[in-house]
Amino acid sequence: MGKDIDDLLKQAETFVRAHMAGYDPSHDWHHVERVRRLALKIAQSLDPQPDLLVVELAALFHDLDDKYRTSTSPTLSDLLSPLLSHPAISSCQSELILKIIPSVSYTSELKSLIEQNDERRNWQRDCKELHSVQDSDRLDAIGSIGIMRCAAFSCKVNRKLMEDVETGSGDGDGSGSGSAEGHFEEKLLRIRDRMKTPFGKEEAEKRHQTMVEFLSSLDRERDLLI
Ligand code: ADP
Ligand code: NI
Repeated sequence: MGKDIDDLLKQAETFVRAHMAGYDPSHDWHHVERVRRLALKIAQSLDPQPDLLVVELAALFHDLDDKYRTSTSPTLSDLLSPLLSHPAISSCQSELILKIIPSVSYTSELKSLIEQNDERRNWQRDCKELHSVQDSDRLDAIGSIGIMRCAAFSCKVNRKLMEDVETGSGDGDGSGSGSAEGHFEEKLLRIRDRMKTPFGKEEAEKRHQTMVEFLSSLDRERDLLI
């Protein structure tokens, strides 16, 4: 059985690496590999321990169901069916993985909070496998790694790095949209309060402080330009 699982994980990794080969560094295979490692660590810190195979596969697949897909892309279940029918995995496990993937993102969580679907909301509140992947994906968006990913994404969409001298500190509505720096207010500084696991909460607190220090040093450097 152990050999079967290793074979499945190897196949899954090869598939995801190939699928994400053209993605930019804000969102590439290395992001997936980090999410996989930390999701396993988070899962191992929980008691009772969630299903580690489900956690590892859901982490590997979590960004396949993303904005890069188009209306003509195969469904997630078609895309993954050759892997999820592997003998090392039960149908129950593969169903759970397919349920977790579209629920990982922050946007999908916010959407389900306003939806009137109690069953889905309760499942999302209780599923430890989901929480392990969610917390891991969110940790990768904050702290030092998050700062670098935010800059990388901003390069990709040609977003300016920081607010101008005139509008930088104490400007009007404080939304700061339009720069990499603005994305901290828009999203990254809110992530700390949406963590699910004790490990995730503790680590998010440290990474949050890293971002607060970074933003304050950015402010200081901007002030020198006046
Ligand atoms: P994931 O779900 O894996 O976190 P996203 O597609 O939401 O991926 O974001 C990829 C990376 O790009 C993240 O680090 C995120 O903070 C950053 N990012 C997303 N939107 C913006 C934006 N509007 N400006 C700057 N960075 C962004
Ligand atoms: Ni991700």
